[in-house]
Amino acid sequence: MSWYDQAIIYQIYPKSFQDTNDDGIGDLQGIIKHLGYIKDMGFNTIWLNPIFVSPQVDNGYDVSNYFAIDPILGDTNDFSEMMTKAHELGLHIILDLPINHTSDQHPWFQDAVNDPHSIFRDYYIWHSEIDGHEPNNWGSFFGGSVWEKNPRNPDEYYFHLFDKKMPDLNWKNPEVQKSVADIAKFWLEKGVDGFRLDAFIHIAKANFEQDSLDSSTKFPIDDKFYAKLPAVKDYMSGFVKEIKAFKPDVFLFGEASSAKARDAAEYTRPDEHVCDVVVNSDNYGEVYDDSNPDIPKFFQDRKLSLEMLKQTYVTWESILDHVSLPTLTWGNHDISRVLDRLNLPVHDDKITKLLAMMLFLQRGIPVIYYGEEIGMHGLKYQKVADFSDQRAVDLISNLRQKGFTDKQILRLLNNQDEMTARGPMQWDSTQYRGFSKEKPWNWALVDSNNVDQEIADPDSIMNFYRELLKIKKHDCFTSGDYRLLITDSNIYAYQRKTADKQGIVIANFSDQKTEFTLPKTVWRKVLTNESSEVEDGVVKLGPWGCCALESN
Ligand code: NOJ
Repeated sequence: MSWYDQAIIYQIYPKSFQDTNDDGIGDLQGIIKHLGYIKDMGFNTIWLNPIFVSPQVDNGYDVSNYFAIDPILGDTNDFSEMMTKAHELGLHIILDLPINHTSDQHPWFQDAVNDPHSIFRDYYIWHSEIDGHEPNNWGSFFGGSVWEKNPRNPDEYYFHLFDKKMPDLNWKNPEVQKSVADIAKFWLEKGVDGFRLDAFIHIAKANFEQDSLDSSTKFPIDDKFYAKLPAVKDYMSGFVKEIKAFKPDVFLFGEASSAKARDAAEYTRPDEHVCDVVVNSDNYGEVYDDSNPDIPKFFQDRKLSLEMLKQTYVTWESILDHVSLPTLTWGNHDISRVLDRLNLPVHDDKITKLLAMMLFLQRGIPVIYYGEEIGMHGLKYQKVADFSDQRAVDLISNLRQKGFTDKQILRLLNNQDEMTARGPMQWDSTQYRGFSKEKPWNWALVDSNNVDQEIADPDSIMNFYRELLKIKKHDCFTSGDYRLLITDSNIYAYQRKTADKQGIVIANFSDQKTEFTLPKTVWRKVLTNESSEVEDGVVKLGPWGCCALESN
């Protein structure tokens, strides 16, 4: 058993957590200020979105220097102070490590562009033009082609899966694998406990000569050419072996947005040397409203399907059983906050508590996005022009052309755009919510509770989360087997079992009262989101009620 088998992860978007130097941008000192809060809430691990030097084209995922902290966030002294204080409190720190690409400002890329004989040429992926245009029709995740012209040689292109200012590294080159391992070891020496391996499933690419057959758009996104190719495992294994040899208990948390349970099992098998757990972005049990073909999937309205959620978790829990732990999450910085995404009522705390209990007591590692523990909602921008991220800009222009009003577009953006999820942490009720004295870098109104209010209210979401995370640490909810129980369609119920202890969780996903008959044994109620009663082995739950019980 490793320390991370009991990890309860708090994801912090450093630019939006706490500003301490009044520039409207969060910083490492802000994180240090709240380490006590994080510990007290019951988290034991912190994942920080990227903090390395970056031109911030993609909020830190475009790194120009992996060996230093971006000055907007602090410096090496702040980093050391954060590590020391976190470790004193028993908190582990995981850094986000973009390994698929660098910034175009990175010295490797600059040298490769400026010197045709550079030793870093082969660190990137180049291709000559074909008949005066891009080598193929593959589409980038950030729009347009994956190919961009070499600024110094217009006959040649470089490859970028994300923004054109984020050239992909050539993982075929062993020097690249070694250089990335050196970066990891540098931070491990500074005490870091693990890494989120950003976009690792994309490090291998197919034959560039093969065009995509998808003719629906000029540059189609076609995963089969650049996601989950067999060579990913080959490229990763040397790198992973090297850093595991350097620090055997390093936690490798692989980001694979499109991974299915079987992919996750493949990557986390202990003999594969890829990663310890996989986090994907598709386990939310959502059904999309695809009735209007003009609206791209990412922005479509969605609602929770309990049936789908059940299928998803039975699949993940079964396939990963005896392989690795699933990650349990309602969202992250790449998707709007769960309460907005699913159009859930703003001030019905019961539902927020139910979502937390239902998910986090399952077998797996909870990954909780900052603010979720107070039921934080996303930012509500006032006009479409307030959105500046590329995906939003493209949506606005496309939908305007198709006759949508700005009001219609604004609704879609406020419900689904990722920037709404990256707003300042709501600490108190002052003008900028205790995040900063200055206007935050990403700012709009948000209808949310704040930490101050919630601390004072014994029935708050925050106090519920604190209790829930205590219970998560009980043996049965950490290491017990998981079994979904067959119930009425509105109930999600599961049992967790170790050799001598068991737990059960029942969640009523409806606004009607309901009852649930417990398996025969003596049960003790440990947490509920409203007054539920247990009488003669039957749990009586009100609308959206949930209840956890234990027995030993
Ligand atoms: C996944 C990250 O979560 C996302 O924010 C980023 O844009 C891409 N990887 C590229 O690094």
